Amino acid sequence: MSDNSKNPINSFNNTAILIHWVIAFFLMVQFLIGLDMVDIPKGPDSPRPFWFNTHKSIGIILGCLILFRLYWRLRSGVPKSPAGTPTWERIAANISHMLLYFCMILMPISGLVGSLFSKYDLLFIGITIPKLFEHDPLIKELMTNTHQWTAYIFLTIICVHILAAVKHLVIDCDGVFERMMPNFTNSFNGGAKQKNEENS
Ligand code: HEM
Ligand code: HEM
Repeated sequence: MSDNSKNPINSFNNTAILIHWVIAFFLMVQFLIGLDMVDIPKGPDSPRPFWFNTHKSIGIILGCLILFRLYWRLRSGVPKSPAGTPTWERIAANISHMLLYFCMILMPISGLVGSLFSKYDLLFIGITIPKLFEHDPLIKELMTNTHQWTAYIFLTIICVHILAAVKHLVIDCDGVFERMMPNFTNSFNGGAKQKNEENS
């Protein structure tokens, strides 16, 4: 793990940027499927099991990507806010990023644990995972409620996050938005680094 206090970085590296957008994209797909599939009626020819299994498979893959992202963040660090950013904004950004990570971790865990304790088989990309636990209605219900409520809280924080990003782009014009955009010059000339130095 890098010591960022001694060696501060000024921009996200390309891996962090790529993984931010891959996860953001698949989270949106996952929300759309999740919110839609629960309303599909049950029945012999119902597409419900297909969408549930698709949701579970994407969710498990997302969980692995999120773990990798967390590891990458700890390894590479996070750029400092541009000079002149008010303290409340730095604190708000930190808290909202922590909450995003909290939800990103809790969603796959609650989904997976709920599925492991449900009465249905868990299918991962078409492969049936052997039943590890007996059906437990209490744990299943607890996990379903956690999954559902975290989803709503998560969506709210994502909306705030997007609004904050747009504020940085349109009102603050401080380069914070751009540093999460693919910038192939980052690796060669420090891209956003220059911007931050101009601001300080
Ligand atoms: C980051 C990942 C995930 C997101 C954003 C997500 C999102 C959602 C959403 C929005 C719903 C609908 C909630 C409702 O209105 O009732 C849902 C339901 C559901 N999700 Fe996920 N999900 C994720 C991961 C997973 C995983 C990994 C599994 C299982 C392996 C899973 C299994 C389920 C199941 C079974 C339901 C139906 C409700 C229930 O019985 O809990 N999800 N999910
Ligand atoms: C599913 C949705 C999203 C999630 C979960 C998410 C999560 C995060 C997290 C946790 C960070 C902090 C960096 C880190 O710790 O790795 C971040 C940074 C950032 N995100 Fe997102 N994000 C999402 C969607 C978006 C969207 C749609 C935009 C643009 C409109 C955006 C723009 C940014 C920007 C500009 C930063 C950099 C902030 C900085 O430099 O301090 N994000 N995102």
